[in-house]
Amino acid sequence: MSVHTRVLPVRGEDISFDESGRASATGDTQTSLQEAVSVLQKPGGVVAFPTETVYGLGANALDTDSVRAIYSAKKRPADNPLIAHVASLEQLRRVVLRNKSDIPKIYEPLLAKFWPGPLTILLPVTEDTPISTACTVGQDTFAVRMPEHPVARALISMSDLPLAAPSANASTRPSPTAAAHVLRDMDGRIPMILDGGSSHVGVESTVIDGLSDPPMLLRPGGVSLEDIKKYGGPAWQNIVVAKATASQGETVRTPGMKYRHYSPTSPVVLFEGTGNGINSVSDLFGDHKSPIKASDVPALAQLPGADSRTVTKVGILTTREFSPKIAELLTQRGFEVIHQSLGTTGAEISRNLFAMLRHLDEDVKVDLILVEGIPEDHEGLAVMNRLRKAASVAIRV
Ligand code: TXA
Ligand code: MG
Repeated sequence: MSVHTRVLPVRGEDISFDESGRASATGDTQTSLQEAVSVLQKPGGVVAFPTETVYGLGANALDTDSVRAIYSAKKRPADNPLIAHVASLEQLRRVVLRNKSDIPKIYEPLLAKFWPGPLTILLPVTEDTPISTACTVGQDTFAVRMPEHPVARALISMSDLPLAAPSANASTRPSPTAAAHVLRDMDGRIPMILDGGSSHVGVESTVIDGLSDPPMLLRPGGVSLEDIKKYGGPAWQNIVVAKATASQGETVRTPGMKYRHYSPTSPVVLFEGTGNGINSVSDLFGDHKSPIKASDVPALAQLPGADSRTVTKVGILTTREFSPKIAELLTQRGFEVIHQSLGTTGAEISRNLFAMLRHLDEDVKVDLILVEGIPEDHEGLAVMNRLRKAASVAIRV
């Protein structure tokens, strides 16, 4: 069944919050927010909205039919729990904790520093927890975040509902950082998208578990591991980073990994390590000239459909070290090359990552994407986590 998807404009500048955190808005923004609130208040209602990390696909976290509507719009496996988003600590205590339990002390310094912002914490599920089991998928913990984006906070505050909200992409696709990305994946599947411009962080929130001993980093994201240790106090000094889904020692990783995620349609080759990249890219293509079949190139030979996959158009995303000569080299070999810089700072690379992958894939429609990685410190931990999941092949430079 197809619905008409409306895209409504919203502007953070039109929103203000009073001392108790109550939101008010003016002009079109007010009208759009009101329409979104009325969708969310009906069972089964879902709305895509901007957050500072990525766009979310939100629904009332207290209502099972509403949460289920998220899973079906995304075609998301129903065993992956969702984050409940709140507008304030006051709302978290009143609506989610029902004034019956408190937020574990271990989180206090981190919430003081990073909320609102790109940090998600786990809280224990108790018999009083009103969050739908469709959201927690029967775990004994649930995830909560207070987004910083004024549109997200206003929507949650005006509806006075905790919103379950995964990233608003179709399952396995790169997360959306603009309303156009959401529309591409969700057109006809959801009734409304609030368009508040581009998400400025660009990767999802960091998910931490302070209930386990030692505490764990479950997903690297918009708050760095270094900052969690710096601001978290003694309890966070021995935080353990949960194992990434891909093993790191491999030089070439074959496709068909269990955790396909963030994936453009065109295969992604990730170059890890530092160097000018010329030899690595040259080795990848061997002596071949455009057009090539993926099956001609050893590193690509195991891609699905390699025999029939022709490569003539190559997208290159570089960061800090790769030489522009790579583009020349491939152009001389007859390939059509689209070379873009992801940026040089960690913040720029995070912000551009998903949008540039989508652009090469969906707009330029390249046959192959080559990406230069970065070291795994600060923003690099989240960036490389996303790139490894997006990549079909990883090559050490
Ligand atoms: O930045 C973000 O976090 C975005 C925006 C929209 O807020 N949301 C987001 O949601 O990325 P999603 O559903 O794509 O990712 C939620 C992550 C998943 O990796 C999920 O497995 C994990 O949080 N998660 C949720 N509840 C959990 C729980 N109780 N225990 C462990 N992991 C949990
Ligand atoms: Mg997601």
